[in-house]
Amino acid sequence: MIVTRSHRWVLYGIALVFVLSFVTACGGGGQQTQQPASQPSPPTEQPAPPPAQTEEELLIAKGEQLSKSIGCTACHSTDGTKIVGPTWKGLYGHEVEVVLPDGTETTVIADDEYLRESILYPNAKITKGFQANLMPIYQGQLSEDDIKAIIAYIKSLSGEHSHE
Ligand code: HEC
Repeated sequence: MIVTRSHRWVLYGIALVFVLSFVTACGGGGQQTQQPASQPSPPTEQPAPPPAQTEEELLIAKGEQLSKSIGCTACHSTDGTKIVGPTWKGLYGHEVEVVLPDGTETTVIADDEYLRESILYPNAKITKGFQANLMPIYQGQLSEDDIKAIIAYIKSLSGEHSHE
């Protein structure tokens, strides 16, 4: 097309407006409004956790309850008193004199294994000074979890005073 003189001025004008608007858009952000420094949000108050019992405490509580409901504590005291069977107080971790089925006397340490055997097969090792065949045989009567709980309970009764 033929650009006349007046046309040219119009083109210049458009170009100028274009350039100006471009410059304003880029440089015009000079006075940015200061963003208020974001306040650190106050720490959210955590509700105090309930005094949760540890797994061990729960196990001990279960063992205690089982020993009563099954009737172990009819024959076993937890305070050192000798009833039908030996007391459980101070039993765990201590030496026990036992009599084997063939009459041999020996000493064992009352650990988990010994307690487990004493519960499942009471006549495997008879605690010296006590009678065989008095304690019921619990094999098949107690679940693995029950036995663990009872052992945990017996363990918890130890550590203050050994018997005798
Ligand atoms: C009818 C009474 C009686 C009941 C009920 C009874 N026991 Fe016994 N228990 C005995 C006697 C008596 C002995 C000692 C003779 C022996 O070793 O079998 C004994 C021994 C034990 C021993 C070994 C203790 C030691 O000092 O060496 C453990 C452990 C034990 N019993 C756990 C239990 C548990 C656990 C229960 C319940 C699930 C239970 N008993 C229920 C009478 C009983």
